[in-house]
Amino acid sequence: MSEIYELRVNGVDYPVTADANRNLSGVLRDELGLTGTKEGCDDCECGACMVLLDGQPINSCSYLAAQAQGREISTVEGLMDRDEMHPLQTNILECGGVQCGFCTPGMLMSAHALLERTPEPSLEEIKVGLSGNLCRCTGYGTIFEAVAAASKVEKVEP
Ligand code: FES
Ligand code: FES
Repeated sequence: MSEIYELRVNGVDYPVTADANRNLSGVLRDELGLTGTKEGCDDCECGACMVLLDGQPINSCSYLAAQAQGREISTVEGLMDRDEMHPLQTNILECGGVQCGFCTPGMLMSAHALLERTPEPSLEEIKVGLSGNLCRCTGYGTIFEAVAAASKVEKVEP
């Protein structure tokens, strides 16, 4: 049965009509057209679907969209500042941390949350901060390098 509600994503209020049991990643992608958030395992294992809920990273494949009402959802689409890429985005490209790119949006959101709570993380803290995100391509080193590089310049609002 469909429910009508509103979701606030990247500072914008979106009306939603969706079944009560729809997960957040599905609603973001299929109903709101925010396809930056990826769906991989659909089982809380890979982190491809990572978004921030009130600043905390969550696997949106395993979170009911209706439960996110009244919360602030941040997705990878919100990282850009108009035409300007976020330092995490420029650094992940420059460091070669993007290959197929499927993990990248989730990685960026976990990294963003990490830098918000720990502006100058150690390598160990970066590894822990991204431990919920799997990458099949890069071997992780270039991604960790990108987060470290971005931490030197990130003073950017969510
Ligand atoms: S798609 Fe959500 S954790 Fe893999
Ligand atoms: S770049 Fe391909 S899964 Fe990470």
